Amino acid sequence: MTTLANRIDAWYEQIATLTPENVEARRDVELAITMLDDGQIRVVDVAPGGEVTVHEWVRRAILLLFRLRGMERSEVGPFEYLDKLELKHDYERRGVRVVPGASARRGSYLSPGVILMPSYVNIGAWIGPGTMVDTWATVGSCAHIGANVHLAGGVGIGGVLEPANAVPVVIEDDAFIGSRCMVVEGARVGRGSVLGAGTILNPSIPVIDAATGEEVSRGHVPDFCVAVSASRRREFPGGEFYLPCVLIIRRLSEGERHDKVALNQVLREHGVAT
Ligand SMILES: CC(C)(COP(=O)(O)OP(=O)(O)OC[C@H]1O[C@@H](n2cnc3c(N)ncnc32)[C@H](O)[C@@H]1OP(=O)(O)O)[C@@H](O)C(=O)NCCC(=O)NCCS
Repeated sequence: MTTLANRIDAWYEQIATLTPENVEARRDVELAITMLDDGQIRVVDVAPGGEVTVHEWVRRAILLLFRLRGMERSEVGPFEYLDKLELKHDYERRGVRVVPGASARRGSYLSPGVILMPSYVNIGAWIGPGTMVDTWATVGSCAHIGANVHLAGGVGIGGVLEPANAVPVVIEDDAFIGSRCMVVEGARVGRGSVLGAGTILNPSIPVIDAATGEEVSRGHVPDFCVAVSASRRREFPGGEFYLPCVLIIRRLSEGERHDKVALNQVLREHGVAT
């Protein structure tokens, strides 16, 4: 594994000069993407204690893939596409339910028990077991979504291939992300937490505890919190303005599920071997 990582790093140093004709580089990069697709390697690891490790070489392999692949045309009925990457396959073997209209790119990893409503999952994203990606939700490249998470309708999880050097978004196990939330640029939602509908979370947004008035972080909602979109008054030379913040309105006890976001098991039964 170390040698594949080293070779990818070395190819990345020459990325500007590589072309699809470079067979050796392509063989290494395609191997890395196959391993990513099968969950043998990941861009992001989250340790049980919450420590996040980003494997930069895996992200580089994805960037190299775009360099080393040519455009290919594909057709589905009356639709025509022109792209460098293909979609995932083999959902039955993977134990993943995919509703028509959903697309996941090859090189994303979907654990057994994942359900994709008509949604989009980009390359390098990792999605844990039992997670529901609801209608029109988008999971950006290299994002880490834990187990038994619900990304509600229209949620936008940012990707990290662009802008360059962005940090992956991490949504930890058992979190609920309300409809139309936008979580981007390395923002993080902790275990079991609930993000109220329509919340915007990025590393510039203060997360404030309503019980104390204290700013607990920027862009990181801690474990087992119920947090909603709010605003705070700020004074500027030009006047008073209200800027967004995220307010923790309640703390859940460890392992507790908010009653309004309980999972509906009947929607999660797969009927396929996992
Ligand atoms: C976050 C959420 C679970 C909070 O529910 P709750 O714990 O019952 O919270 P409450 O309704 O008691 O609200 C507490 C306070 O926060 C405010 N609040 C609640 N949700 C809010 C939100 N999303 N944005 C801003 N303020 C919100 C309430 O107005 C209330 O203020 P008040 O005490 O002055 O009346 C709920 O608001 C929410 O967003 N649910 C997700 C809905 C959704 O996305 N469903 C997806 C279906 S696919």
